[in-house]
Formats: sequence, structure tokens, C-alpha cells
Amino acid sequence: MKHFLSILALLTLVACQPKDPVERKIDRLIAQMTLDEKIAQMTQLSGGQITENLENQVRAGLGSMLNSMGEEADYYQRIAVEESRLGIPMIFARDVIHGYRTIYPIPLGQAATFDLALVEEAARLTAQEAMQAGIRWTFSPMVDISRDPRWGRIAESYGEDTYLASEMGAATVRGYQGKDSIVQMAACVKHFVGYGASEGGRDYNTTWIPEVQLRETYLPPFKAALDAGSLSLMCSFNDLNGVPLSANKHLMKDILRDEWQYDGLLVSDYASSENMIKHGNCADLKEATLLSINAQMEMDMESHAYLLHLKDLVKEGAVKEDLLDVCVRNILRMKFRLGLFDNPYCALETPNYYNSESLATTQRLAEESAVLLKNNGILPLNTKHSSQNTPMTVLVCGPLADSQHDQNGTWCFDKVDSATVTPLMSFRQWAKEGKIRLIEQPGKHWSREVSEANIEQLKRLAKQAEVVLYFGGEESILSGEARCRAHLDLPGDQSEQLRTLKATGKPVVLTVMAGRPLCIGADIDAVDAVLYAFHGGTMQGPALANLIMGKVAPSGRLPVTFPQAEGQIPIYYNKKNSGRPTYNPVLYDDIPVGAAQFSIGADSYWLEYGDKPLYPFGYGLTYTTFEYGPVTLSDTILLQASSPHRLIATCTIKNTGHCEAVAIPQLYIRDLVGALTRPVRELKGFQRVSIPAGESRTVTFEITEEELAYWHLADGITLGADGAYAFSAEKGDFHVWIAPNSAEGEPAKFALR
Ligand code: BGC
Repeated sequence: MKHFLSILALLTLVACQPKDPVERKIDRLIAQMTLDEKIAQMTQLSGGQITENLENQVRAGLGSMLNSMGEEADYYQRIAVEESRLGIPMIFARDVIHGYRTIYPIPLGQAATFDLALVEEAARLTAQEAMQAGIRWTFSPMVDISRDPRWGRIAESYGEDTYLASEMGAATVRGYQGKDSIVQMAACVKHFVGYGASEGGRDYNTTWIPEVQLRETYLPPFKAALDAGSLSLMCSFNDLNGVPLSANKHLMKDILRDEWQYDGLLVSDYASSENMIKHGNCADLKEATLLSINAQMEMDMESHAYLLHLKDLVKEGAVKEDLLDVCVRNILRMKFRLGLFDNPYCALETPNYYNSESLATTQRLAEESAVLLKNNGILPLNTKHSSQNTPMTVLVCGPLADSQHDQNGTWCFDKVDSATVTPLMSFRQWAKEGKIRLIEQPGKHWSREVSEANIEQLKRLAKQAEVVLYFGGEESILSGEARCRAHLDLPGDQSEQLRTLKATGKPVVLTVMAGRPLCIGADIDAVDAVLYAFHGGTMQGPALANLIMGKVAPSGRLPVTFPQAEGQIPIYYNKKNSGRPTYNPVLYDDIPVGAAQFSIGADSYWLEYGDKPLYPFGYGLTYTTFEYGPVTLSDTILLQASSPHRLIATCTIKNTGHCEAVAIPQLYIRDLVGALTRPVRELKGFQRVSIPAGESRTVTFEITEEELAYWHLADGITLGADGAYAFSAEKGDFHVWIAPNSAEGEPAKFALR
């Protein structure tokens, strides 16, 4: 009874709390809305042209339009504000994925920078440009964990690692939305959830992900983006464990709403409710509507499902109108947070695109995103390579050497190709300044083309040059949505071109501009140096020229494991050991010697490739060398549940080469024994540290119990009675590395007691 009374007192207290003024405004609006107006508010339709039908939808209270911008957006907004009954402004959305006009590196490239501050700044500048066209809602960041480079959308992701993707996604949300109480551009974290695990790397495909793995690997980046304040979230296309996300109540209700208490806006993916008919979990659009609304999908993007069927479902009693009120409330709240009721017209008459701040930031991001994979000493180029102290003669060639369109990568509808600066354009500038002599053969239009005449011409020109700079990779259309590849090679005859060039005896530097990791070990073996640069955006040309000429030292690190061959996929660093792991003294030094000997000849590897990838996660060279000292710990024991208890891990890194460069020490931890088996390493922190030649820097990382916790079943072995999962650390022994990448370093040891 006493218990009952205190609950009653609490409820009365909550009921008496003065309501937030915005919530009161929302109450008033909802009270005035008809059923039709609520449904219209829960609908998003494509703009891009002015039609009578769209005008009428807007007059009837349409909630949002996608792909309508500038004058057109203002035209429709005027109808919404002045001619719809309640004058509720619309919100204009677009896929502003890695820049609006000024294009930044693709997200996979951004992840390679490990530079959260710069990524946040790029998102802030992106929002500023997009807002000038009236866009207040972007469908970004995409935080799908991507461990399959065949999947074209890996380009839009931050790669394979949950921690890195969480940090990158949160930084991007902060950048888009800004720090003011009026949000500049709403983020929409997507695609909820598991989309990157599509079978065979095929888009829109089936996924099977056990709950523990969902929680450990796929959900945390979403939680991090929502905690960073993302005003919205988009569901994914995939069928997850038999239920497409557009109707997946477990994810959208149990986890998103009940467990995480998310009160932001959940939007479908493009026609994803309608797609469920083809998935085969509903017979028609009306049933799809019922399933989606029951999963509290609040806004229907382009399925027309809610417009056509929601009213009937409410009238028939299959859906309660209260549920629509919850949805409309979340939509209106976002509009208030964006200040749209006070300032509905956002497009500027004279926008200031491609300003110097944006160009400088994208150039820096492109410089930081390029990963030096190999260097036999040819880089950086300088006139010392030249025989008579005259400028070095450089042949710039390859399909991506001068492709203003392709170096921007996937998902950039609004760029102006002519504003893009290519590598060839930049080297022309270096030639003009007398620093090099330039021979140019930018090559074919498409990376996929094959041409013998081109190869002959390349051979002829290479003979006249002292060094060959080859810019190859994938044209932009080969990655992104519905751009999955079964062979991850250099398309067309690029490999043959590289071999022909190398056969001339001239050093060849290969720069790869691509939307994904490629399996190009043989090409890498054939050349002298390799910069893996992803698609780097508007200023990738000057960025690459600066790196190649040594004005800037490379600092990118791989955000994803590079396989040797497609047959190794999925391959990622934070795997678990098999029962017979390959014996590798670095990674598996905790295995007792006897067991290791036993495993030789009977372990887990590929006959053709052994157990190693082409390059591990976190890998990248620069123009100097770093020596990592041993990891020291402030204690060998971390005490459980005595707060606050933490260990400090320390490592001194020495620059043993001849130029200043950035080291990216990475903190990895391994839990040696778990009730559920644990990965061989997990990233838990990283830093970017610039170290002058000959100097040392000491880095420190804090380790708390939280870094050791993982998702497991509540009682350790079986699912708890209430289906509960626990996120907690188990007592036992741990290894900790502070290492230059996921495959190197010696661990220190400690125990959680
Ligand atoms: C994509 C989303 C995108 C949406 C709107 C869909 O096809 O999966 O990522 O935001 O279209 O353009």
C-alpha cells in the first residue's frame, strides 16, 4: 500500500509539472488537426518540380518534401504557410551526404582521418551551404557497420569498427546540428539497422543478426548519434531476422522507444514500406501501412502508404488515432527545434557556395584521408630525384587523373563539376611554378574502359618521364546505393597499364581513388608506392599533389580491413578466435605453447592466403617512422564497482625519421575469457599526435570498467526470463595495446577484480 501511495504521489507530481512551452504549442496544434491533416503531416513526397498535385498535397498539410530546393522550396513553403488550414511549415529534406556544393571526402575517407574535430567542422560547413538552398534536414550520417567491401554503400559508411563509427557519427551530428538552441540542419542517422550485413554484399538484402551481435556491433553507433542529439533516424531496407525494418517492432518499439526512450522522428527509407510487399511479409500496401504504423514509423517516405490507407485503418479501428498523435508530436517537435514556425523560408537569393573556409577544410580532410600503403622511398617526390638538378619530369596519367566528376564519389547531386580541382590541374600548377616538368596523359573517360592505343601511348610517354604518377581506381558510379561488385579489382585495363608502365623501368606511384577497399595486392606489388585516397571531393587534386610532393605528410589510417581476395570476405580485425587459431606470436601470444604447436598445420586459414588480410584495420604509413615504446599501466588491477576507479595506460612514441608527421596511436583491449567468447582485440580509443622529427610524445588513455563491458545474456548463459540482456564487465584478465594499427604491438596485462 505504501508503495502504491508513493507511486501515486510521483504521478501527481509529474502531472503537475508545468509543461514545456513547445509541447504546449504542439498540444494546441494537434487538438486542431483533422485525421487527414495528421496523415498528411506524416507523409513525405518527392519534389523537384512544381505540379498541381503536389500543390494540393501541400495545401492539405503535407509534412515534408524531399529534393525540393531554393526557389521551388520557398514556393511550396509559401503554400504550406499561407494556404494550408493550420499554416504548419514543411521541412525540406535532401541527401547531403558528404557536402552540398563543396564536396568533402566520402564518409569512408573521412573515417580514415581519425580526426573527429575536422569531421565535425566539415559537417558544420556542409549544413551552412545546404541551408542556403533551404535544406533543413539531411539523411546523414550513415553509421551502418560495413564489413563487406562488395557492398557499394560501404563508401557512405565509417567502415568496419563500432567504436570508430560511433565517434564519427556523433561528430557529424554535432556538426550538422550546431550548438545553438535552434538547430541549423537536422541530422538523420541511418539505416536502422544491420543494413551493412546484407548477404553477399547485395543491396536491400536479407540479414540475420543475433541479438547479442546487434547490440554489440550494429546498434552502438545509432545510440551514439542519438545521444549526440540527432533529431531523426531512418529505418533500413533490409529484412532483419525475418522482419523488414519498416515493420520491425522489436527494433523500433522495444529498443528504440522503450529502452532508449527516443522521442525524435523516425522516417522510413524511400518506399521501404511498400517494399515489404516484395519482401513477402505483407500482401498489399494496406497491410504494409498497418505494419509500419504499428512499429511507430512516423513519416512515410514516398510509399504513399499512409496517404492511401491510414485513414481507413483508423476508421476500421485497426489503428488508434492516439498513435498518430504521438507520431505527429515528434514531427512537429523537430520543426520547432529547427525554428521553422518563426522562419520558414530559408533559401538565400545569393548563396555563398565554395567559400574559402569550405575549400580549405575539404582540402585538409582530403589530405588527412589518404592512406599511404606502400613506399619504397620514391615519395615524397622532390627535385633531388632529378639527374641534373632541373625539375623532375613527371608523367601524370590514369583514368582518375582529371575526372572532375568521379573524384567526388557517390551521393553528391549538387556539386558543380567545373568547381572540382583534379590532380592533373594541380600538377599543372606545380609545373607552372617550375617545380616539375609535366607530361600528361589523363587517359580514358571511364575506369572500366580498355584501349590498346592508350597503353601504347602511355608506354611512349613514360619513357620520356622520370617518374609516373598514375591515378586510378573506380569511377564514382561503381560505389554507392545498388552498386555492388563481385570482383574488387581495378576495373578495365588499369592493371595492364600499370604493368606496362612499370616495364619501362620508371618508378610508378599509384594513387587509388575509390569508394571501397579493392583487392589489388598484385597491382600494389607491381608499383613503387601506393596512396589509397578514396574519393576525396572538390579539392582532392591539390591535396594529393601536396602529399605526393611532400608538402604534407600522409596521416590517414585504414578504417576497414583490406582483404587479399574476395573469398576472404567478411574479414575484420575484431574477429573472435577459432578453436584452432593460426599461431601468430603477435596476435595470439596468450595461447599456451603446446596449444600453439598443436594448431600448426591444423588451424584456421585460407590455403591460398594464410590468415592475413592485405592490410589490417588502422594501418597506414607516412614519410617518417614511429617507434612505439611499451605500454605501461598505472596498476595491474582495476577494481570492480569501486567508483571511480580507472587505469591509466601510457605509451611513448618516438619519431625516428626525418620529418614531422602525425602518429595515430590506437588503444585496443582484449578480454581473455568471457561467458560469451570475446574478440581478439577491440578499439577503445585513438588520438592524433603530431611529432617533430627526432622527438617523442607520451600518450595516455584512461581505462574504466565501461571499456571492458560487453553485451551478454543476463545470467551469462541463457536468455533471462524477461528476455534481458546485460551490458557489464566480467572479472578476469585483460590485454591492452597502444599500437599503430590492429595487428601490431605488444600488450600489457591487467585484471578486473
Ligand atoms: C536510400 C537512403 C536515402 C533515401 C532518400 C534511399 O534509396 O537508401 O539512404 O536517404 O533513398 O534519397
